[in-house]
Amino acid sequence: MPHTHWLLLLLAGLLVLSPSQPAQEPDNPSNGTSRELSQWNISGYEIAPSNADFAFRLYHLIASPNSGQNVFFSPLSISTALAMLSMGAGGDTQTQILEGLCFNLTTLSLPQIHEGFRFVQHMIGRPATDLRVHVGNALILSQDLQLLPEFVNATEASYNSKVLRTNFGDTEATIQLINNYVKEKTHGKIRDLVRALSPDIRMVLVNYIFFQGLWKKPFPSAATFDQDFYVDDSTVVKLPMMLQTQQEHWFLEDKHVPCVVLRMDYKSNDAVAFFILPHRGKMQEVEQVLSPDMLIRWNRLLQNRYFYRKVKLQFPKFSISNSYALDEILPDLGFQDLFTPRADFSHINKEEKLQLSKVFHKATLDVNEVGMEAAASTVVLTTFFSAQRKTPVLTFNRPFLVVIYSSNTQSILFMGKVVNPKA
Ligand SMILES: *[C@@H]1O[C@H](CO)[C@@H](O)[C@H](O)[C@H]1NC(C)=O
Ligand SMILES: *[C@@H]1O[C@H](CO)[C@@H](O)[C@H](O)[C@H]1NC(C)=O
Ligand SMILES: *[C@@H]1O[C@H](CO)[C@@H](O)[C@H](O)[C@H]1NC(C)=O
Ligand SMILES: *[C@@H]1O[C@H](CO)[C@@H](O)[C@H](O)[C@H]1NC(C)=O
Repeated sequence: MPHTHWLLLLLAGLLVLSPSQPAQEPDNPSNGTSRELSQWNISGYEIAPSNADFAFRLYHLIASPNSGQNVFFSPLSISTALAMLSMGAGGDTQTQILEGLCFNLTTLSLPQIHEGFRFVQHMIGRPATDLRVHVGNALILSQDLQLLPEFVNATEASYNSKVLRTNFGDTEATIQLINNYVKEKTHGKIRDLVRALSPDIRMVLVNYIFFQGLWKKPFPSAATFDQDFYVDDSTVVKLPMMLQTQQEHWFLEDKHVPCVVLRMDYKSNDAVAFFILPHRGKMQEVEQVLSPDMLIRWNRLLQNRYFYRKVKLQFPKFSISNSYALDEILPDLGFQDLFTPRADFSHINKEEKLQLSKVFHKATLDVNEVGMEAAASTVVLTTFFSAQRKTPVLTFNRPFLVVIYSSNTQSILFMGKVVNPKA
């Protein structure tokens, strides 16, 4: 029996909302988008429904056994890395990966799927005035591992992947190489992605997404004060709560699902954030109906001017970080063979038997005001007291859900559940 060598899949998702950075005038991104779309020989959105299905299936698997814990991950990062890995898989393994990613191979061909990912990565990663998004992939290989040139070429063409060589026998140096690479690509936000590495690993696949957006309507930083956040019936934590009193936002009180849905816009129209605030004690009820269709429904409703109103908005300023060993979760999503000797990665390398060992994913979320001048805050607070009766109040002081959506590719960049912003 040939000796098995190991592959490792590393995914890093990072989301920074509203960095403290001078704002610039927004350009007209939607116009740029339609101009760019015409250069692609695909509808542009062909892979979007499958990616959304995958995102929600994964959410339910991650969230259900951890109902009291924060959840935060980048479904797009995970789909992209696995789709890239499928280029190296043969036979049933390849089918299993793509079907696990919710693709229907009778309606979408392999080239269409990979072209779809190329399109999404290109659109998300292109320079925009008020949004910094970086996506990328790297293959970290043992110095003596010969890859099939077709695999290298194909992953470079569709996934723009970079190849880095290392000596896996020198575990410390390899860990440092990987961690430095990810740290640099995520602007220092994801450090120590890997802590231990088995020396028999021969290849590591890394995907990262870095997202930094500026709120279209920033919070005045002088209006941020410590407030109570009700984690559950018996746990209250104090954390900085940002406040806006005079701004209009898109939000609705759902008539059928016990929650309020707020859409917060970025300066760039390329992405929006949905914050779903279940009524007290109704988180599970809302989670049960979370689906791509529900997101589409909220998105559609929130395009109606009727839901654009002045609101007194209180929102926590916080940072959370989550790590997942996806190799424990993916088999439940139909990826049964990937981590077993049955896995067929013959399109990566013909001579050696390769098998996937681990899939790590780490994602970080930072939310803050965007430094606004402090001078306006007293005025803001004064107005809030006098206007309090008429203006609806939206206070995110209990667990809520978050979805960061890339409008121009219809992709879910990040999703999660904030149970305890201080955890
Ligand atoms: C969009 O771009 C086209 C050129 O590609 C230009 O003619 C048009 O005026 C632009 N529309 C807007 C709304 O900026
Ligand atoms: C676009 O795609 C169609 C069908 O997938 C193909 O027949 C056509 O040659 C492609 N055009 C270009 C310019 O690549
Ligand atoms: C895939 O699409 C075909 C054609 O639309 C459909 O008949 C089939 O049921 C789909 N398969 C799955 C697994 O959804
Ligand atoms: C891979 O790309 C290189 C350089 O772009 C090219 O010379 C080579 O023929 C390609 N190999 C295959 C198998 O496509």
